[in-house]
Amino acid sequence: MEFDNNERIVTPGFTSADSETEISLRPKVLTEYIGQDKAKENLKIYIEAAKNRGETLDHVLLYGPPGLGKTTLAGIIANEMGVQIRVTSGPAIEKPGDLAALLTNLNDGDVLFIDEIHRLSRAVEEVLYPAMEDYALDIIIGKGPSARSIRLDLPHFTLVGATTRAGQLSAPLRDRFGVILRLELYTTEQLSQIVQRSAGILEISIDKNGAEEIASRSRGTPRIANRLLKRARDFAEVMDNGVVTEENAKIALSRMEIDKLGLDNIDRLLLSTMIKNYNGGPVGLETIAATIGEESVTIEDVYEPYLLQIGFIAKTPRGRVVTPLGYKHMNMEMPGQQTLDI
Ligand code: ADE
Repeated sequence: MEFDNNERIVTPGFTSADSETEISLRPKVLTEYIGQDKAKENLKIYIEAAKNRGETLDHVLLYGPPGLGKTTLAGIIANEMGVQIRVTSGPAIEKPGDLAALLTNLNDGDVLFIDEIHRLSRAVEEVLYPAMEDYALDIIIGKGPSARSIRLDLPHFTLVGATTRAGQLSAPLRDRFGVILRLELYTTEQLSQIVQRSAGILEISIDKNGAEEIASRSRGTPRIANRLLKRARDFAEVMDNGVVTEENAKIALSRMEIDKLGLDNIDRLLLSTMIKNYNGGPVGLETIAATIGEESVTIEDVYEPYLLQIGFIAKTPRGRVVTPLGYKHMNMEMPGQQTLDI
């Protein structure tokens, strides 16, 4: 069975429906940014130190599952440093010349944000190395034996790179980042604060329990929480008096087939496939991917982080397994469970 991942209401990926509200909801300064305390505290120090020395901030690599605010943090870094930000992505930079054009158009101190930086081609990466290290662009003029290289100076800039997994990055590129920050899934409490903040900005009425209900089903991801908030408002307005409450949020979420823990049909299909077809594992990532008709990187980056975090699946050297908790959630009997219990 094939699924279009972008049609999931719980997809953490950025969809066109997110664009206008997501931008208005993005915090602009560190103090408005909820959660990611470790990354935030360290970043605060690095920004203050660089500002005090009158230097540009060192290059920053942000990594973690999608939807956790990597682009938002890049914007905050630029804002706190008082500089402009240029936003692009790995796949958008097709040729070395594309990157050279971006770099030469920067002003001193600017932030260049490259999303999905692990998808840069080798040839483009080669241009990035001297740019990051020496703020220089090496250009080859001519061909064959008479070819020579000239070096152009670039403005001092800060590269902020984002990727879903730091391990996907080539080692020489990773080594050129002075600051590496890992973003983690948010707690329900933090997501509840984010939902209440977003509701305030979007002028949505919501009570505390309503916010908590949405937060607890948003798989640790603000982008999903904000999306569910907008849908819950629709239900509250049409079926109730417009205030999002625990009761009408529960109805809205069950109508969207999102269960108590934020799992949707695809998560449940993944778990039930592992249980029914492979006895709960161990089963290899590629095998699961082929069986449910998803790409293995999508499973690894999008579905697995949350299922691992809530302890429904585990990684073993021989493949993925469904845990007793996962079986319980799916209301399925674990093979050998009876003997284990004795
Ligand atoms: N909206 C989305 N992510 C947020 C965050 N981390 N803090 C505040 N508002 C947000």
